[in-house]
Amino acid sequence: MSFLPLLFVVLIALFEPISSVPAYEQCAGLGWDGIFRRCDDGLVCYARSEYYANCRQPNQCPSSWACTVVDSASTKVPPPKIIPVNGQCDNTSYTMCTSGTLCLQQTNTHSECRTQCPPSWLCDSGVLSEYQQCGGDGYTGSTKCAPGLRCYSHSKWYAHCAATCPGIGWMCESG
Ligand SMILES: *[C@@H]1O[C@H](CO)[C@@H](O)[C@H](O)[C@H]1NC(C)=O
Repeated sequence: MSFLPLLFVVLIALFEPISSVPAYEQCAGLGWDGIFRRCDDGLVCYARSEYYANCRQPNQCPSSWACTVVDSASTKVPPPKIIPVNGQCDNTSYTMCTSGTLCLQQTNTHSECRTQCPPSWLCDSGVLSEYQQCGGDGYTGSTKCAPGLRCYSHSKWYAHCAATCPGIGWMCESG
């Protein structure tokens, strides 16, 4: 068999101009291959972050993205704004809580970057399911067991939610 036909295919592939990119496929981003690729006609290359951009309909960029319009390999996408501890946050704009914190909800309209959920905040209303830890020294999560469960203590350091007394060694006297 001759290799000539294969050689032609390879040559054609090498010299064909880079085709444009369809909707929702990557068009730019650091660490991709460094190249900006033009989107299909009518689409825009929007950056989610400096590492990723894809082709989307105009004005259809998610609010959690940087939404920088990338039109060449040299377009710079700014890094997300870092919100300090106790700063107001929303998890939906192009921002990040500073390392070690999460955007925790105080009320329906107010959230802050915190290391843990302060008592009485909305984020503290989570109820725990069976066998989830509900207490113990050093434990900072929710202490509310789901209906039908009780928080049983095993020691000073550990308690979990259960429907009935987990057994010998647990503090199960009623109360
Ligand atoms: C933000 O995301 C974190 C992690 O997914 C979540 O625990 C927190 O509830 C979210 N905050 C808001 C305000 O949606």
